[in-house]
Amino acid sequence: MCSTTNNPRPASSNLPYSISILVFFLLTFLFVTSLVDFTLGPERSWISFHSPPWARRVGFSRPFSRDGNEELERPSSVIGIAEPPLAPSMLNINKFEEQNSSTESPATDTAGVINTYTKLERLEAALAKARSSIREASKNNNMTSIQEDPDYVPRGPIYRNANTFHRSYLEMEKLFKIYVYEEGELPMFHTGPCRSIYSSEGRFIMEMEKGNFYRTRDPDEALVYFLPFSVVMMVQYLYVPGAHEYHAIGHTVADYVGVVSQRHPFWNRSLGADHFMLSCHDWGPHTTSYVPNLFKNSIRVLCNANTSEGFNPSKDASLPEINLKSGEITGLIGGPSPSKRPILAFFAGRLHGHIRYLLLQQWKEKDQDVQVYDTLPNGVPYESMLKKSRFCLCPSGYEVASPRLVEAIYAECVPVLISDGYVPPLSDVLNWKAFSVSVAVKDIPNLKTILMGISQSQYLRLHGRVKQVQRHFVINGTPKRFDIFHMIVHSIWLRRLNVLIQD
Ligand SMILES: *[C@@H]1O[C@H](CO)[C@@H](O)[C@H](O)[C@H]1NC(C)=O
Ligand SMILES: *[C@@H]1O[C@H](CO)[C@@H](O)[C@H](O)[C@H]1NC(C)=O
Ligand SMILES: *[C@@H]1O[C@H](CO)[C@@H](O)[C@H](O)[C@H]1NC(C)=O
Ligand SMILES: *[C@@H]1O[C@H](CO)[C@@H](O)[C@H](O)[C@H]1NC(C)=O
Repeated sequence: MCSTTNNPRPASSNLPYSISILVFFLLTFLFVTSLVDFTLGPERSWISFHSPPWARRVGFSRPFSRDGNEELERPSSVIGIAEPPLAPSMLNINKFEEQNSSTESPATDTAGVINTYTKLERLEAALAKARSSIREASKNNNMTSIQEDPDYVPRGPIYRNANTFHRSYLEMEKLFKIYVYEEGELPMFHTGPCRSIYSSEGRFIMEMEKGNFYRTRDPDEALVYFLPFSVVMMVQYLYVPGAHEYHAIGHTVADYVGVVSQRHPFWNRSLGADHFMLSCHDWGPHTTSYVPNLFKNSIRVLCNANTSEGFNPSKDASLPEINLKSGEITGLIGGPSPSKRPILAFFAGRLHGHIRYLLLQQWKEKDQDVQVYDTLPNGVPYESMLKKSRFCLCPSGYEVASPRLVEAIYAECVPVLISDGYVPPLSDVLNWKAFSVSVAVKDIPNLKTILMGISQSQYLRLHGRVKQVQRHFVINGTPKRFDIFHMIVHSIWLRRLNVLIQD
């Protein structure tokens, strides 16, 4: 299923030629809708950002935040469940049963339309129930006994609100259904790399294609729609090295959205708000800008979660970068106890971007406690350094995400985030402050002082929580509950809870 990395470059795109005609219509349509959004903007400013009239953003309170810690430092704290502005009838699922039977009687010529309409309402009613159940769980922190879980009961400070998360997770397992569009051909659609720093893109696409979890073949019963293109594969097939332009990739994405919006009613219904794409490539965010509604309405699951480049944590989700060198994860997880870690802090990596420049300039091979290298000395394995260190530095490179975050968590080394405008993965649910350290770019010179200032008991707590949080970052050949696959799906589920789709 996973693509191999050295396929020959094809002469041209595999998409049918009729697509180019669609593009014309699509572009016309997009132009019109962006005008509408522009002119409607001010009146609809109660919505936090532009959204189509068919899909309302429901305003958010913060059930995921922790008691007494309302002001969370990361913008993603807006994720939570508020009272959605539902019509009274939508709050009562029984009412839908009545509507269902009454609409099924006469009006035969429009029966099909009415049925679809009713299906959507039923889905929204089920979501409304899930929202209120999650909201309730956020108020009562003593409901864990009701939520006996055979595998794992989330607890403790690594979560913004463990009880809310658990309830939301259980609701997701009950209700969430994803439709994967079947349009698009290999190798740029329906597959992706399962090794390398982009593995989280390929593995997710592959898992959705297998369809063992959450996937439905009936688009009418789906809560979200997946656009299964791989930006990494498009770069491999469409990008001319050195050309520094990605129009071919952007246009392929636009063609694709054109096709699915022509063949299915779902994109137009929500203008993309219940659709998602996923990419770990640096250019992932940029390729979505070729379809304005994809950029501003859809759920974009991205490694390159840079808020300065339009990443919007209330609708987009941060995807962890996981560097799978061999494609195997066995042996990567685990590390020695804190007392067997002689090095205070460690980093090895090339000079990519200005943050690394500052780090290397300040610390490269200057201090035995803070060991910073651009190239490790011969015979010193990278993994052994992660396991000998108490803190592992994770500075941004050319883009905000770093595979070091997950490497550190796997090796049980406390991650130190050095970034600007980065929303770390799963931060809608996880309280990163509890198991990592965040150092501002301007404080790079004070790195040692800051880390030395963390007491032994504080360190032991951080270390213990890194071990606890591991399960949420683990990639399994077959996904297991609460692992990275399910956590990514949960990020998407949370964002779908955020919108109300209407016909
Ligand atoms: C509503 O419609 C579904 C099929 O679309 C049917 O199975 C169900 O029994 C109907 N409910 C009622 C109350 O008639
Ligand atoms: C749990 O919380 C509810 C509502 O706050 C309260 O009525 C109930 O007594 C609590 N149960 C326990 C076991 O503390
Ligand atoms: C969606 O909207 C576009 C542009 O208005 C239109 O060309 C297309 O036919 C619509 N799709 C469906 C399924 O109606
Ligand atoms: C994030 O985006 C801004 C704006 O494009 C850019 O200046 C900055 O370098 C990006 N951050 C990283 C680490 O790439």
